Amino acid sequence: MALHIHPSILAADFANLERELQRIGEADLVHVDVMDNHFVPNLTLGLPVVERLAEVSPLPLDLHLMIDDPDRWAPDYAAAGAASVTFHAEAARDAVATARAIRARGVRAGLALKPASSADQWLPLLDEFDLLLVMTVEPGFGGQEFMAETMPKLAQLADAAAREGRDLRLQVDGGISPRTIGIAAENGANSFVAGSSIFGSADPGATIRELRDAAQR
Ligand code: DX5
Ligand code: ZN
Repeated sequence: MALHIHPSILAADFANLERELQRIGEADLVHVDVMDNHFVPNLTLGLPVVERLAEVSPLPLDLHLMIDDPDRWAPDYAAAGAASVTFHAEAARDAVATARAIRARGVRAGLALKPASSADQWLPLLDEFDLLLVMTVEPGFGGQEFMAETMPKLAQLADAAAREGRDLRLQVDGGISPRTIGIAAENGANSFVAGSSIFGSADPGATIRELRDAAQR
């Protein structure tokens, strides 16, 4: 599986999102963090903004739903023009049904796990998902420190996917920088979300290249 770099627009200028999208042309997808101030103690944007972003973004959208009741909302986000919709295992009532509803709209379905959430119960269900997101910080805010203690869970998922011959996207999100991306890649990640390290850079394109190089080393 090729490596994918996903800048997170959580760290972008929210008053100029269309312009910010032009700064990350070297990336593969753009990561959009949807927060509802219930599942996480922060609030960002919702469906109408995602629909417009899908219309103006040169890159496909990778949605990360940090919301309660994803069973209700994920299908609408899938229909909004995203390439992938990832929701949290901790918030879903029926994660398999929700993933199927996303896939039924021709969109990749992702399951996210908070740092303390075990992967064990999902190992027999990997076929139901296209992407597994191992959170490497507590969801809710950008600019936090990478949690290396999540790496055994990532390796566990990578091993399980390899055993089954699954071409799963294994994503990490939180604290990813040229310094930390190598550790995540070594443990099996192939999809990397980075907010502050990319949008905080004077040259986001150069940082995206640096991240790619560091992940491949
Ligand atoms: C955090 C979000 C992340 C966030 C990452 O809850 O899911 O996508 O933007 O930000 P950085 O890369 O700054 O840790
Ligand atoms: Zn995210």
